[in-house]
Amino acid sequence: MTDPGQRLRSSLAADSAAGERVAGPTPGDFDSPIAMEALRATRVLHAADQEPFPAPSRVRVISVANQKGGVGKTTSTVNLGVALSLYGLRTLVIDLDPQGNASTALGVEHSVGTPSIYDALVGDSSLSEVVHPTSASPLLRCVPATIDLAGAEIELVSVVAREYRLRRAIEAYLHALPEQDRPHYVLVDCPPSLGLLTLNALVAGDEVLIPIQCEYYALEGLGQLLNNIDLVRQHLNPGIAVRTILLTMYDGRTKLADQVAEEVRNHFGALVLDAVIPRNVRVSEAPGYGQSVLTYDPGSRGATSYVEAARELAERGVSLPPLPAPSGPAAVTAPPAASLALGDADAATVPVPPSRTTEERA
Ligand SMILES: Nc1ncnc2c1ncn2[C@@H]1O[C@H](COP(=O)(O)OP(=O)(O)OP(=O)(O)O)[C@@H](O)[C@H]1O
Ligand SMILES: [Mg+2]
Repeated sequence: MTDPGQRLRSSLAADSAAGERVAGPTPGDFDSPIAMEALRATRVLHAADQEPFPAPSRVRVISVANQKGGVGKTTSTVNLGVALSLYGLRTLVIDLDPQGNASTALGVEHSVGTPSIYDALVGDSSLSEVVHPTSASPLLRCVPATIDLAGAEIELVSVVAREYRLRRAIEAYLHALPEQDRPHYVLVDCPPSLGLLTLNALVAGDEVLIPIQCEYYALEGLGQLLNNIDLVRQHLNPGIAVRTILLTMYDGRTKLADQVAEEVRNHFGALVLDAVIPRNVRVSEAPGYGQSVLTYDPGSRGATSYVEAARELAERGVSLPPLPAPSGPAAVTAPPAASLALGDADAATVPVPPSRTTEERA
């Protein structure tokens, strides 16, 4: 497994070779740990001066899901979101967990009464009415979750097309935005359960990103999640697929972490990102300051590994397979998939899911 510092050196060397501007001295000067950390910080902080990540071939709606608690869903959603936006991609983070951890980590108000995802799911608000700016980047916006969302699973039971509430909200939001403001990425932070909230996320997304903690029991319960995703694909959202696995909280000092990582790679193959997120204390400290680790300690290994993971995610998004034609109950009355542009010269048109039917609106 490549050390993130090593990867950084290689990437810097490649940049220098390509004649790109690299802030500060050359990589050969960085042989002490402190100097390396300073270099990494420069690299992250001056992200905007470097080559931006490539835009995806269509808007990517990614649900970050794993019903196992504490595996790094929120941490990954937040830090990938910040990394994508620091490297030039418009990103919307939707906090779909009543705990509101993603909102906290992005420093977004989420006390009771704050316009939030609850108002869009259970009430009549549009996402544009509940979206908040973040201090991490002007390109990053967040729809917070308040504790009201805890009741949503029950309140949604009697709502028409309850599994489609988030999907419809995202579609309407994307359609209403001018091209130049449309996000490239929508990341949905799911709660640790397979209830109606996670179901809404799986129906809303084109893809699932599963963070897997490099610990014993990591794969336990994963079969249940994969089964649920299959069921959603068959009956509600033919486009959904697991496209990314991210190994989190890797502790290089333990054999166990390597064994888990190897097992996950054997099982999921190319879906697993090469970048691995190390267990790093700065990652766990950052939310306490309402920040991502990229802004809290840009020189930390946690920060650089999330940048690497986001870079891979972005590179894999350049030529996504087209979304399958709608089928199953969800598509019975649906019109053909529309196209939606991202507003970037180099970004292709973006197929979007079918819009809400007259029956569902009633
Ligand atoms: N790479 C890491 N290094 C150290 N601590 C981490 C790392 N990633 C996450 N943590 C910490 O582990 C805990 C769980 O992470 P996180 O909240 O992201 O998981 P989650 O899957 O969203 O949890 P939940 O299921 O409760 O929503 C948090 O305290 C977080 O700060
Ligand atoms: Mg969480």
